[in-house]
Amino acid sequence: MASSAPRIPHHVAIVMDGNGRWATRRFLPRIAGHKQGVESLRRCVKACAERGVGVLTVFAFSSENWNRPVEEVSGLMELMVGALAREVPKLSADGVRLHFVGERAGLSPKMVSGLLDAEAATAHNTRLVLNVCFNYGGRWDIAQAAAKLAAQGEAITELSLDRAMALAHVPDPDLFIRTGGEQRLSNFLLWQSAYAELFFSDKLWPEFDEAALDEAIAAFQGRERRFGQTSAQVSSTAAA
Ligand code: IPE
Ligand code: IPE
Ligand code: MG
Repeated sequence: MASSAPRIPHHVAIVMDGNGRWATRRFLPRIAGHKQGVESLRRCVKACAERGVGVLTVFAFSSENWNRPVEEVSGLMELMVGALAREVPKLSADGVRLHFVGERAGLSPKMVSGLLDAEAATAHNTRLVLNVCFNYGGRWDIAQAAAKLAAQGEAITELSLDRAMALAHVPDPDLFIRTGGEQRLSNFLLWQSAYAELFFSDKLWPEFDEAALDEAIAAFQGRERRFGQTSAQVSSTAAA
């Protein structure tokens, strides 16, 4: 049988890196790059929905980003609160369901209520799940899952840990993109990316447009996902 249309990754995860450099190259303050990054995310959400991606998970603020200068951290917090107020109605109109993934401790009460409101306001949407990882770290996620199981007296197995993890509501990412040229994970989705296809883009996040997304998806479509099997096994299953 002729092969069907090229597969679209069901779950795309993105480390949105390079905002600071985008701004610095334009002699702008770093926060201007983060603002442009919000616009880029908006464009990316729309493009993913149009292409049939079901889940988009983005890294917006890491457990380690607290170590940045205080004015950048407070700028990022303000930007998040502002973006929630502005973007949530538009995202909801586009059929996007929001989840905020990460440690709530350490966030202001205003921020936490903003996150909860945004989740509630979009809970009925079904077109695209958008997970925004904020105050998130892959190690935190594994540790909090283990702590939850221990507190409940449950056995720790791969399955129980998986179900206690912060992204238990979605399948594992198929395609993991990092913009900004660095080739590292920086503590993003350590557990869930075990079999994700990795794609590193030299584009800075504010420049990551539809064409760049299509390039990443095309690279994904050219990969053979073997999950430990041999190539011959995979092609015989595909042909069946
Ligand atoms: C990523 O962009 C956004 C956050 C970490 C919040 P950066 O701010 O890390 O941008 P660069 O890497 O300094 O260019
Ligand atoms: C990763 O980018 C975190 C986010 C994009 C939110 P960083 O810029 O913080 O990563 P490192 O420090 O270069 O590894
Ligand atoms: Mg960076």
